[in-house]
Amino acid sequence: MPRVVVFDEFGGPDVMHVVEEPVVEPAVGEVRVRIEAFAVNPLDQMMRSGALPAAVGLPHARLGVEGTGVVDALGPEVTGLDIGDPVILTAIPDASARGSYAEYTTLPASQVVARPAELGITEAAAIWVAYSTAYGALVEKAGMRPGDQVLITAASGGVGRAAIQIANQIGAVPIALTRHTARRDELLAAGAAAVVATDRTDVVEAVRHHTGGTGADIVLDVVMGPGQQDLLKAARPGGTLVAAGFLDPRPAPFPTGTPLTIFSYRSFEHTLDAVVVRRMAAFLNAGVRLGALRPAIDRVFALDDIVEAHRHLEKGLHAGKKIVVTVQA
Ligand SMILES: NC(=O)c1ccc[n+]([C@@H]2O[C@H](COP(=O)([O-])OP(=O)(O)OC[C@H]3O[C@@H](n4cnc5c(N)ncnc54)[C@H](OP(=O)(O)O)[C@@H]3O)[C@@H](O)[C@H]2O)c1
Repeated sequence: MPRVVVFDEFGGPDVMHVVEEPVVEPAVGEVRVRIEAFAVNPLDQMMRSGALPAAVGLPHARLGVEGTGVVDALGPEVTGLDIGDPVILTAIPDASARGSYAEYTTLPASQVVARPAELGITEAAAIWVAYSTAYGALVEKAGMRPGDQVLITAASGGVGRAAIQIANQIGAVPIALTRHTARRDELLAAGAAAVVATDRTDVVEAVRHHTGGTGADIVLDVVMGPGQQDLLKAARPGGTLVAAGFLDPRPAPFPTGTPLTIFSYRSFEHTLDAVVVRRMAAFLNAGVRLGALRPAIDRVFALDDIVEAHRHLEKGLHAGKKIVVTVQA
């Protein structure tokens, strides 16, 4: 019988275990996907540990918001997909019920997109969350255009690396922010036009320097916390800040000062909108085809080693490269 990862109580990686259960028949508008690989995300760790503010249905909760596989069964009224089609799962909102840590999942057909032929299985498993978030925040929310000078926080992270590549694909100018000077060369190699390392440099001064004194047109803030104050000062008057993550759990003071447009961004607002998903998929496909977009893979685990995969995630040494789990059905 097909295997699925579940957890019955909140806790460390050990609460996850593999069980066998029958596949779910797709209802109207749904597809069943035989999963080939899935990526592990910080969101999964939050769900598993009980740190997620949203409700998680215990016991027998599933995990996993992204992955890739082939269409295995079609529910009534599904059009545009055939059995055997390779697909990418777009972010799964109800992961505790339909999560991708499994050999099969059944989900609305609107939550799968065609898999670009240029991507290997592990890369395809790892592209959607980071790249759709960076695309949604920068392009859909902030309206990033060629020539925009874009300050990217946590640039060595998964979303940050995706944002650097997407800015380059658009023709914008990515300025990467990191806490460590030692990451400078790696970020330049990843496509950053300039790097600001906060262990040695003042953010506001450095961004002014790299932008010819104007400040950043767009700031992508996936860190927040008190450091956001400097980001606001590093933006040009009339610029845009998109707050899309919360790596620093300390409170961020209410933004005052520079007149900016500030958005709070959650990618589910876009990934549940079929029209935006079509745009996201078209953009990502073009970037993959042209070689501009490619997720970096840190390590690959087998499904039976899921506990080890989460332990590895918790060590935080993956430095923005994705941890992928392959599934053998
Ligand atoms: N809005 C959404 O829909 C959405 C979607 C996906 C992810 N997110 C959120 O976006 C954030 C980034 O996700 P990710 O997958 O890119 O994370 P990640 O890959 O784990 O990012 C790791 C990088 O972030 C930097 N970092 C870590 N802790 C930090 C801190 N306290 N202060 C400053 N920098 C820190 C580090 O870079 P340096 O050491 O080089 O500074 C590290 O390399 C997370 O909060 C995640 O939950 C939001």
